[in-house]
Amino acid sequence: MVKTSSTALTEGPVYVPGLPREHVAEKYGIPLDEIAKLGSAENPHGPSPMAVAAIAAADPKFDIYPDWTAKPLRDAIARRYGFDADCIVCGAGETEVISMIVRAFCGVGEAILMHDPCFPIYRIFSTVEGRVPMLVRMGEEFDPMLDAYVARLAEKPRIAFITNPHNPTGKLLDEPEVRRICDAADPGTLVVLDEAYIHYSETDGMMHLLHDYDNLIVLRTFSKAFGLAGLRVGFGVSANPELIRPLRNIKPTWNPGHMQITGGAAAVFDDDHVARAVATVVQSRKMVEAEMQGMNSFRMVPGCRSNFFLTEIVNPDLDSTKVFNGLLERGVIVKDGIDIEGLGPRYLRVDLNLKRHMQRFLGALRDIETGSDA
Ligand SMILES: Cc1ncc(COP(=O)(O)O)c(C=O)c1O
Repeated sequence: MVKTSSTALTEGPVYVPGLPREHVAEKYGIPLDEIAKLGSAENPHGPSPMAVAAIAAADPKFDIYPDWTAKPLRDAIARRYGFDADCIVCGAGETEVISMIVRAFCGVGEAILMHDPCFPIYRIFSTVEGRVPMLVRMGEEFDPMLDAYVARLAEKPRIAFITNPHNPTGKLLDEPEVRRICDAADPGTLVVLDEAYIHYSETDGMMHLLHDYDNLIVLRTFSKAFGLAGLRVGFGVSANPELIRPLRNIKPTWNPGHMQITGGAAAVFDDDHVARAVATVVQSRKMVEAEMQGMNSFRMVPGCRSNFFLTEIVNPDLDSTKVFNGLLERGVIVKDGIDIEGLGPRYLRVDLNLKRHMQRFLGALRDIETGSDA
């Protein structure tokens, strides 16, 4: 029998994505455009129009290899954020860059620091690749427990992941907090600051810290505020090109392809689209926060600065899977807390999206609370 290189590859954790609209439409007979898709943190206004126009106008060059380092995209990102193109590595989504980082900077059996809960991919890639997740449990109301996190840094993990704002809680660390982590990290620990959702925090993020720490990489994605989750483009940036070279060497050589390069290079300048998405998310956040205050069975976990938030199920007769299924029947897709390791059955992760989708979510929660039929 053919064996895998590690049993974790067959027995380890598996990513559970948000469900597609088609699943709910087919199962419950609800029209596709009525379904509120609130489980994948996608853009409420679709793809960046600048990216769509650039891709439509481009010569697709399907028969020609793209530049294997995605040079035109690196040049655009470099211009946008003021770094040298040699300080940037691109991938087919940020997820691919995360996978490259795990393999390039941490050996089998070595430790990778992360919060519990965290973006499940950090833990999954670490585990299935034989690296060891070092978990810092979040505190009450998902306090990031910086003292505990910094204490674990003293054990010199090879990589330390920080997500800002955090997934799945939406909590935001401020600059002194992120600096505290960078200052505490051993020079041999790679600090990875994942800013996938940074636009929704209405801050500029902390790429400027790269100039102060040469063991720091910042990750960004085109999947969220730029609306290009289906295109698959993401990147990492560091002021230290020595961190970028190994990533380029371990990268699946010709990723990303021409369309990803073209779309990403246009989207990175699409400030109007980003602003529109952020305005919608911020408005919906306020509306949902106010509406949920009137509920007895459910509570919004406070302090969210992202395009999703945690719903706590306070009614002991309900759990996340009951509510998740009740929402599905009513045409609302969210993320069940049991599918995010470390989160569990008292929580749901729910996206902030167009007002009509949030109203459908709130109406469905009220129905579940009062026991009304779907
Ligand atoms: C924290 C975080 N980083 C990265 C990603 C993945 O981004 P991409 O679609 O670019 O692979 C996600 C997606 O959910 C995420 O939550």
